[in-house]
Amino acid sequence: MRLRHYKRELMKATPSASLWIAILIAAAIGITTAASVQSTAKQSSSKASAAGDVKRGKYLVEEVAKCSECHTPRDAQGQLDRSRWLQGAPIWITPVHPRSSWAENAPALAGFPSFSDADAVNILEKGFGPRGETIRPPMHIYHLSHEDALAIVAYLRSVPSSSQ
Ligand code: HEC
Repeated sequence: MRLRHYKRELMKATPSASLWIAILIAAAIGITTAASVQSTAKQSSSKASAAGDVKRGKYLVEEVAKCSECHTPRDAQGQLDRSRWLQGAPIWITPVHPRSSWAENAPALAGFPSFSDADAVNILEKGFGPRGETIRPPMHIYHLSHEDALAIVAYLRSVPSSSQ
């Protein structure tokens, strides 16, 4: 009789125990989902900051340092050719007083495939080429901040490397 009573109690307890398990599972799923939503949000916010760098890089390249003036070919009217943006160009200016060193071509920068980030640091922060060579005019010797150099590289890597 006592055992029977205990059994009945156990039967009664079982559904509530499984209810608890169900609640725990639901909670666990909830936590995992919340965590993954949070990590997606984190990812997209870090993407957003990378996009910020690209935007700043574009501004520096196009409006401050004017890299595009020399590194983009020109059309017959002498205007920068937007369809070949930063794809390398012959230099169109000559010095008033002849100089012993004057580069005749500006290399392609679109996609920035020919240079590593370390090269970019040397070129844009110290004024040296990838092999330690002094860069010839009319390319400027820049002493940019590291942050600005990285923003420029981020932008250049985002530019399509061939004509669309
Ligand atoms: C007034 C013209 C001019 C402007 C402005 C200019 N460049 Fe250049 N750039 C050149 C020329 C010319 C060369 C080739 C130099 C040489 O052959 O020594 C060059 C070379 C380079 C190189 C290759 C360096 C090497 O040693 O291989 C990189 C990278 C580069 N420029 C990036 C930039 C960036 C980024 C900007 C803007 C922040 C910029 N340039 C602005 C004319 C210019």
